[in-house]
Amino acid sequence: MKYYDLRSDTITKPTEAMRKAMYAAEVGDDVYREDPTTSRLEELGAQLSGKEKSIFVSSGSMGNLISLYINGGRANEVLCSANAHIIHHEIGSVAAIAGVLPIGIDVPRGVLSAADLQGKVKSGAYDMATTTLIEVENTIGGYCYPLENLEGIKDFADTHHLKVHMDGARIFNAQTATGISVKTYAKYADTLTFCLSKGLGCPIGSLLCGDEAFINRALTIRKMLGGGMRQTGILAAAGLYALQNHVERLSEDHRHAKEIARALSEAGWAEVDEEGVQTNIIFFTVKNINASEIVRQLAAIGVLANTEGETVRLVTNLDLNEQDTQELCTLLKKFKPRMHA
Ligand SMILES: Cc1ncc(COP(=O)(O)O)c(C=O)c1O
Repeated sequence: MKYYDLRSDTITKPTEAMRKAMYAAEVGDDVYREDPTTSRLEELGAQLSGKEKSIFVSSGSMGNLISLYINGGRANEVLCSANAHIIHHEIGSVAAIAGVLPIGIDVPRGVLSAADLQGKVKSGAYDMATTTLIEVENTIGGYCYPLENLEGIKDFADTHHLKVHMDGARIFNAQTATGISVKTYAKYADTLTFCLSKGLGCPIGSLLCGDEAFINRALTIRKMLGGGMRQTGILAAAGLYALQNHVERLSEDHRHAKEIARALSEAGWAEVDEEGVQTNIIFFTVKNINASEIVRQLAAIGVLANTEGETVRLVTNLDLNEQDTQELCTLLKKFKPRMHA
């Protein structure tokens, strides 16, 4: 049976051209800061984000954790969306390791505005945690942050002397969908993490971006967390290749996602948030059948999906081409969910 793997955009395998770039990479010991390919990738990360510096980290979770560790601070609070990745999918590292308490705010689609933060900042009381940071995720559930929200949040943060961290795991999807550059998005955050191993198709790695003082500290915290790696040029070469060759093609993933969302709506058995499909993520529910049961039934016809709370999630990616998408749409239109498995 042919499988259509839409569990995530992290499942992609490096292309042959990417593997060739990795094979040819010039390398050195990055803990000694002697890996020339990693240095080139970090310079490009700084340039694309408009920040003074960037460092290569093993994962998006590691980038978020380092930023929260440094700019959150133990026994303090971070304001974020109630469905933030840092709350639900990072094993509580923000609290367990960084020592910061995340305060999740329940907002439609997870998109915060300054108004949502009003009254949530704590400071000055000896018997309460102090709020030090705001965390925003862009995209969140595939939805792009409106720039005016980010502007408002940054103004709010400045007024209350808070830092802003942007989890931009899929910020290149946002750039592709909206035409707003990563650099423009990053203007509204002190620090930014973006992932190379999602839509961009790398096997491993993320970049953490910020000012020079932050990145110098981040180097130390990365080492403390066991994230100092040696000949990272092999991985950085994949990152350089992806940033040069895989950014524009994200629009194909977005087109496929819209086509799949349409097919699901037309199929009649799914309730799809079509308007929310701005990039490569589709969410849907099925009346009277829970999400994990639908995931099981879809797997039986070769469609691999994931649950996100009470919804089913599909993520288009580099390994799903136009023909796969058309075949998948046909399969979804024919599929009939069963009430009782
Ligand atoms: C929004 C978001 N942030 C952070 C991460 C963490 O990235 P990683 O899996 O590289 O730790 C993910 C991973 O799926 C994510 O979706």
